[in-house]
Order: sequence, then structure tokens, then C-alpha cells
Amino acid sequence: MAIRIIRKDDDEILRKVSKKVEVIDDRILTLLDDMKDTLYDAQGVGLAAPQIGVLRRVVVVDIGEGIIELINPVIVYENGEQVDEEGCLSLPGRSGIVKRPEKVIVRAMDREGKTFEMSGTELLARAFCHEVDHLNGVLYTDKMIRDTTDSSEE
Ligand code: NI
Repeated sequence: MAIRIIRKDDDEILRKVSKKVEVIDDRILTLLDDMKDTLYDAQGVGLAAPQIGVLRRVVVVDIGEGIIELINPVIVYENGEQVDEEGCLSLPGRSGIVKRPEKVIVRAMDREGKTFEMSGTELLARAFCHEVDHLNGVLYTDKMIRDTTDSSEE
């Protein structure tokens, strides 16, 4: 278990498309563990493998209800919309308003290689979408309606 360095700002790796995980080996399990440590250390809501420099389709999310590990996640259903502020551990100090589905269902593999589906609404739906975007080299700033970085609310 280790805390890895989070890639930031204009790091080119954030713009690359991550590869599917074909075999869940020790490297993937270590990756999941390290991503969890890194997420908690950074006090974030979600982290995708490319953010620590690994171009694999692996995501961890925790909205305060425990860690969710997603291998090869795909959004298979979305419904409604929500418009709210979003940030990213790779873009520290910045924020923006992004429209996301109100509800999604994500399909993924767990660390045992079993496929499962999980639904999420509100913040969890937002986190699933944001992290899956990372796997495709997409950042929230690509989609934001308005940049709120400088609107400091004290
Ligand atoms: Ni992010």
C-alpha cells in the first residue's frame, strides 16, 4: 500500500485513453489498494488510474459510504439531469458547474473478477460519470457550463 503522486493540470497522461483490464493480477490489486490510499490521503471523492499515471480502466470512489472499486466501468443507464459544482484532484484549486445525469447505473468488475451493477444518484452518479470520463481522457473542464474557480464563497 502506498500513496502515489497525483498527475495534475497539463500532464499529457490525463488526456490519454486507458486500456481495459484483461487479467486481475497482483499489479491490479496493488493498484486498487494504492488508489484507495491516495484517494483518502487527498481527501477526494473519486480517483481514476490515469490520475496516478497508470493507463488502465480502474476507478475508486468514496462519497463517504465506503470504498467502491470499479474495474472496466461502463455507464449502462442514465436518467434525468443535475447541474452542480465539480472539482478534480488533478485540477487543484479549480471548480466549475457541470451538467450530469441525476441517476446512472454503472457496470464493472470487482477485484474478484465478478461483474456487478451499481446504481448511483446525485453525488454518486456525478462521481461515476466524472471518473469514467477520466478513463477516456476527458476532464470536467471539457464539459463545464461555467468556471467557478474565482467565485470564492467565504
Ligand atoms: Ni477528476
